[in-house]
Amino acid sequence: MKIRKAVIPAAGLGTRVLPASKAMPKEMLPIVDKPAIQYIVEEAVASGITDILIITSRGKTTVEDHFDRAPELEAKLLASGKQRTYDEIVGISKLANISYIRQKETKGLGHAVLCAKAFVGDEPFAVLYGDDVVIGGEEPAVKELCEAYEKYNLSVAGIKKVEIDQISKYCSLKVEDMNDEQGILKVTDMVEKPMPHQVMSNYSILGRVVLPPQIFPILEKTAPGANGEIQLTDAMKVLAQTEGMVGRQFSGDRYDMGNKFGILQAIVRVALE
Ligand code: UTP
Repeated sequence: MKIRKAVIPAAGLGTRVLPASKAMPKEMLPIVDKPAIQYIVEEAVASGITDILIITSRGKTTVEDHFDRAPELEAKLLASGKQRTYDEIVGISKLANISYIRQKETKGLGHAVLCAKAFVGDEPFAVLYGDDVVIGGEEPAVKELCEAYEKYNLSVAGIKKVEIDQISKYCSLKVEDMNDEQGILKVTDMVEKPMPHQVMSNYSILGRVVLPPQIFPILEKTAPGANGEIQLTDAMKVLAQTEGMVGRQFSGDRYDMGNKFGILQAIVRVALE
């Protein structure tokens, strides 16, 4: 089934990027001249996604304003002959059918995804974490995941190896080789923010997944886990151990806009290009 819907959780408090994220959503922090979340929406659109739900929270209305029309600004640009800038600005509001829902309490990524239940309905969907930007690569990252979903008809985790001494900040996956020509791996287990004895590999899920609607009844039953939050990883583990799951090593470079070093790396990369 072709994937046409995507969910972008962007309701987190961004405590690792304070004070920048106090009044400004971290998802709106610019990489040179474009907010991080626009890169993410553009990746979804370039992957064939037409309908996007952004999960927001209090103090994040600038995200909605960014993807809306801006009549006064547009009129001014036209009147001063800045046609190219006008086209670019209007283009942002036409990227996709974007809707919004507020996560009323920041209870974790799993809880944020659960807020998308009515929007998703009965079809598979992509999740693009609002603070993970992927730059470069052979294809847009979510497109690579959607192709893997169509190939295996199973949930897909976007995976990469991380430095082993950093794995406790991520999730750790148990994977098996499938002899897939694109290096797609079978995912059989996972643990969020592992203690040293829980580490199964240095493969982690980095900001992109494709899930079936069966994730929702699992999320409804998922108790708070690491950091006291309802973790998407805990629900995905159930899917991996029942229906099965694959891991696609996407080709682009992932930048973590949720921490200061990641933001700096993304800015330098784009600035040099
Ligand atoms: P993170 O855990 O990286 O975001 O979640 P955070 O909670 O904002 O981070 P810190 O630790 O306080 O700095 C990954 C993505 O999930 C969203 C975040 O906005 C981010 O894009 N998220 C997280 C939600 O939408 N809701 C939540 O309750 C938690």
